[in-house]
Amino acid sequence: MKNHVLRPLFAAMALVALILTARALMVPSDFGVHGKSFTYNFYRAGAVSDWKNFPVSYKGGGSCVECHDENAESLAASRHQIIQCENCHGPARNHPEDPETLTINRSRDLCLRCHADLPYPGSLRSELPAIDPGEHNPGEACVECHNPHNPNLEDME
Ligand code: HEC
Ligand code: HEC
Ligand code: HEC
Ligand code: HEC
Repeated sequence: MKNHVLRPLFAAMALVALILTARALMVPSDFGVHGKSFTYNFYRAGAVSDWKNFPVSYKGGGSCVECHDENAESLAASRHQIIQCENCHGPARNHPEDPETLTINRSRDLCLRCHADLPYPGSLRSELPAIDPGEHNPGEACVECHNPHNPNLEDME
């Protein structure tokens, strides 16, 4: 055969060999160990235990009740009942071991995220009780007057 045919042929063979070598080196040994079916076995068996060991950041409101029962009961009976504790206090991780305490954010921004008047017609966001931050007691912390664990207006002193 002529050189101009052989040269690209060798180049193509070298490329295929390179890809096969790279595949052998890079695909983890436990990939697809259950067979070749795309539907059930096209994954790395070790991924299951990897995810089991993945540290959970958010524990959910139910996990706070045993130690912070007053806040939990108050929140559950209020109009804030659908809000997760960790939405305002951040991820619990292994609290109270690590971190020993969680963030308390008393800034207006925490509340304005949901309560600043934003007219998004047709969205649930614009149906939340809204205030104009520039008009509604500017400069004062919302929690001076509103209880974050029970914001119900009829319960305000
Ligand atoms: C096993 C008991 C326990 C659990 C469960 C627990 N906490 Fe705590 N928490 C504590 C202790 C102890 C402290 C530190 C003492 C304190 O300030 O009350 C604390 C402190 C806090 C603080 C700061 C209080 C302050 O005055 O500085 C917040 C906020 C908090 N926890 C929120 C939560 C949330 C939200 C959850 C659920 C995701 C939770 N905690 C789950 C025991 C617990
Ligand atoms: C809407 C936001 C929000 C939610 C939801 C929320 N908190 Fe709070 N939390 C706050 C703010 C703000 C403060 C500080 C209040 C203050 O200083 O007057 C606070 C204070 C606290 C404190 C310390 C003071 C105290 O009352 O003991 C604890 C503990 C606490 N929260 C636990 C919880 C737990 C547990 C939940 C869920 C059951 C929860 N919080 C849900 C915003 C929130
Ligand atoms: C000086 C006390 C005070 C401060 C500070 C304050 N509020 Fe209020 N807020 C009130 C009172 C009183 C009402 C009920 C009467 C009214 O609507 O003005 C109210 C009403 C509301 C309502 C209900 C509005 C409606 O029409 O349903 C929301 C939501 C609200 N406040 C959110 C906030 C937020 C968010 C902050 C901080 C950015 C804040 N407030 C700061 C006293 C306060
Ligand atoms: C994640 C969104 C979210 C955050 C953050 C949030 N709220 Fe609310 N807030 C709500 C929802 C949802 C309601 C209930 C609306 C309903 O019942 O239709 C509500 C209701 C209220 C009401 C009206 C209660 C009534 O009786 O009319 C006040 C006042 C209020 N929140 C104050 C606050 C304050 C103060 C903060 C900050 C500490 C805060 N909220 C943070 C979502 C939020």
